[in-house]
Amino acid sequence: MADLQLRDDVPAVADDGVWLACVECGETFAPFEAIRYTCDDCDGLLEVRYADLPTWDDFEGERSVWRYSDALPFEASEARSASNGGGEAAGSVTLPEGGTPLHRVPRLEDDVGVDALRIKHEGMNPTGSFKDRGMTVGVRVAQEVGVDRLACASTGNTSAALAAYGARAGLETLVLLPAGKVAAGKVAQAALHGARILEVDGNFDRCLDIVQELAGRGEAYLLNSLNPFRLEGQKTIGLEMLEQFRDDYGEVPDRIVLPVGNAGNTAALYKCFRELVKAGALDEDEVPKLTGVQAEGAAPMVEAVEEGNDEVRRWEDVETIATAIRIGNPVNAPKALPGIRETGGTAVAVSDEAITEAQRDLAGEGVGVEPASAASVAGLRKLRERGAVDDDEQVVCLTTGHLLKDPDAAAAAGSDPEPVPDDTDAVLDHLEG
Ligand code: F0G
Repeated sequence: MADLQLRDDVPAVADDGVWLACVECGETFAPFEAIRYTCDDCDGLLEVRYADLPTWDDFEGERSVWRYSDALPFEASEARSASNGGGEAAGSVTLPEGGTPLHRVPRLEDDVGVDALRIKHEGMNPTGSFKDRGMTVGVRVAQEVGVDRLACASTGNTSAALAAYGARAGLETLVLLPAGKVAAGKVAQAALHGARILEVDGNFDRCLDIVQELAGRGEAYLLNSLNPFRLEGQKTIGLEMLEQFRDDYGEVPDRIVLPVGNAGNTAALYKCFRELVKAGALDEDEVPKLTGVQAEGAAPMVEAVEEGNDEVRRWEDVETIATAIRIGNPVNAPKALPGIRETGGTAVAVSDEAITEAQRDLAGEGVGVEPASAASVAGLRKLRERGAVDDDEQVVCLTTGHLLKDPDAAAAAGSDPEPVPDDTDAVLDHLEG
């Protein structure tokens, strides 16, 4: 696994042992003195670095993002009191997030044919997706640097989370969505939480191009996963999952399978593992294999992994039922591709039919997820069929968003309502017939 390149000496720019480093050229920056999303020198992606990395004993309190504050740029108390010193009170930027279940799915485990299969259901976060973990940290940073307008491009979930956390913090929120391609639940959330919603006549990647330009012109603070602080919050998925898995199995899983869009989550999990290894909290040979799944109609990362390319080719035309991952330009690829490769993982593309089938399989175990989330299970099934995953592996599939996010997809995948007369005998006749 690649070295984290953590310096032993803390650079002069470090603020309380936290700084930003460019993943391309290594240049370092103070974390909060100015707003920057990429490297001033080479435009490479930035990563948050720490002088001291925590081990398991440092984590305290109930399972939530802020249990892991020693692995984050702020203390839990600072996050809670960001606006008004009031714990759960209005103005806080925690709702709270994290503490999601690691479901057993015994029938699916048998059917897929692995030693253990668990589902980390991130759809159980406050706004129904894993994005909340990043937003509680990202919006806290927005307060630290002192901005008054937040913005993101989104396939839906980021906009829902940003709208909620922006509202909580009392900040103006702007979201750019690809017109007609965002699931109903997500648009409704952004609307009710009071975001200004701009529907762009273009796909997600174009929305991100535009919002980056707006941020570059100082019009808004960017809270897409290009923002390195968001990925710090998402890193806690890995910490929480490893703790939960170890409680039940006494060891960490062999493999983590997750849907990939912008590849932010893949990058965040890889960073989580590298930091644990660096801190001596995880053996290098224990690191789970990061396995990314994309829809066949939007699979630029899979293409790069399969062809062994270092760069990911931008797909201009993308289409899939899993609108959350309808993305042709995974901006975090420079962070995520090494994660897939260095951990011995892989990437696989699945059809929309396989995604819907996996969504039904999970629902049959009582776990309701949106299509993009089901891609993880569809991908695992495909890799088992190919023999790329062994039957003695212990696997966690990450399901990233709740079923109710996309009610239309859920209704289409499920059974049809049966009209009956308003009469008990007629209802019985219907049931027997
Ligand atoms: N699953 C869901 C439900 C998502 O909403 C997303 C991304 C992903 C997976 C992919 O995660 O980008 O970190 O690889 N949704 C973003 C959004 C793009 O705007 O809500 P990633």
